[in-house]
Amino acid sequence: MKPKVRKAIIPAAGLGTRFLPVTKTVSKEMIPIIDKPMIHYIVEEAIQSGVEDIVLITSRHKEDLERYFDYNYELEDRLMKAGKVELAEGIKKIAESCNIICVYQKEPAGLGHAVGCARSVVGQDPFAVLLGDDLIDSKVPCTRQLIDVYNEQGMSVVGVMEVPLSDTSKYGIVGGDLIGPKTLRVKTMVEKPKAEEAPSRFAIPGRYVVDASIFDFIAETKPGKGGEIQFTDALLKLAHSKGLLAYQFDGDRYDTGDRLGYLNATLTFGLRRPELREGIIQLMEHHLRKS
Ligand code: G1P
Repeated sequence: MKPKVRKAIIPAAGLGTRFLPVTKTVSKEMIPIIDKPMIHYIVEEAIQSGVEDIVLITSRHKEDLERYFDYNYELEDRLMKAGKVELAEGIKKIAESCNIICVYQKEPAGLGHAVGCARSVVGQDPFAVLLGDDLIDSKVPCTRQLIDVYNEQGMSVVGVMEVPLSDTSKYGIVGGDLIGPKTLRVKTMVEKPKAEEAPSRFAIPGRYVVDASIFDFIAETKPGKGGEIQFTDALLKLAHSKGLLAYQFDGDRYDTGDRLGYLNATLTFGLRRPELREGIIQLMEHHLRKS
């Protein structure tokens, strides 16, 4: 029987240049959607998918990320003494709900390289990869959907969504044969192709479940697009040797690495909060009247 997927890697070593100037001193993953940092949502998705150990690939400049997943005794104690029990328990919960292991990526050498940094922590076990710029809102967490496919089909799998041809140059794009209503057997993968070079419109928005053999393929992967060790290139090697599936997950994806995508996520999640909903609608009506 295949080992269960209990580990996840979250690459979070990037500089966050698209969000400068704030990312000069604040990690991009710590930028909040309402009052929770983006990374919190990603970690929650992993936990709700059955993950117990999370390897956070980070860098020496991003200690705010590590601290977020630690206890803050002083603050918890103050909140408890002030009778704010719910708040105190709330901030403690994320630190309690999984093991976070931080590994430094010492040089910015690409996503494939970042994932490879977790090799000695992950060992021989299969694992999920969740990218922090992609928030996926779904009934069944996206990573859980992929783990289910991995368990049923016994093969590594990437999550895909259809994008317009004009957007293929933003993503890793897969090509292959449909073997089920939502599943492709991957034959080819290209990192950020131009529309005319894209093998399909199926894009990977940063969700993967792979077995540990990917580490050997990463080690063999030469720098590709942008001179970086691309995860996409290593996955193609895995596809050719052991097989790889692409699964069209159910859910809405928000590109929180993009300013408008970030605002969209903020509005969507805000409108869902009963205490904020009415206020947000009034604000929007106000601005629409004014413009
Ligand atoms: C990375 C991956 C790409 C993937 C994308 C999803 O690119 O290399 O294959 O489709 O994330 O967000 P990045 O956007 O980090 O350049």
